[in-house]
Amino acid sequence: MQIFLDTANIENIKQAASLGIISGVTTNPSLLAKEKTSDYETVTKKICKIIDGPVSVEVLSEDAEGMIKEARIKAAWAPNVNIKIPITADGLRATSVLSKEKIKVNMTLCFSANQALLGALAGAAYVSIFVGRLDDTGQDGMQVVEDTLTILDNYPDLDTEVIAASIRHPLHCTNAALTGVHIATVPYSVLMQMIQHPMTDVGIKKFLADWKSVSK
Ligand code: E4P
Repeated sequence: MQIFLDTANIENIKQAASLGIISGVTTNPSLLAKEKTSDYETVTKKICKIIDGPVSVEVLSEDAEGMIKEARIKAAWAPNVNIKIPITADGLRATSVLSKEKIKVNMTLCFSANQALLGALAGAAYVSIFVGRLDDTGQDGMQVVEDTLTILDNYPDLDTEVIAASIRHPLHCTNAALTGVHIATVPYSVLMQMIQHPMTDVGIKKFLADWKSVSK
């Protein structure tokens, strides 16, 4: 499973990139708002300088024509920009056009395996299943990821990759990896939690104390 970082925070992206384990970045309008900026172009260009892999940038238009126009402009910001498009009828129309132009689309806000299947049929490079938000409504978000993977496995011609998104805690990542999902996009705080274990810290202290006791 690849790990993408789900943030628009440049410092966090730099820190995470230095670990050598991040394959891409996903952003959305709320994540930009969190950084108190509406300059999507500057932020995207900064991210694309740090990360070689796919960087998802969301469209703000709601109609297919507007989405297509916006996508073409945003895709030109950097070679690794992918376009995030919500899974609506207009989103599907736009994705069908853009995928034929070889613009990679990440169909976002997927809450069902059917939506993800339609995204794949439209030629999306990625479909993002919002696991945490599904869990919040009392549904099993990871089951939707699993169902989507099973469906896509049945049709090898569909080469869409599935992203487990709206990840809230390390257990979501473990469970995502257990499904065999291609990618999990995780907030920086969750990535930091994934690294840590109290017994690792205790173990390091003990090793160093033992070493000190015999070294002069
Ligand atoms: C996915 O690409 C989205 O940016 C993200 O995972 C949304 O997660 P949230 O539910 O924490 O906003």
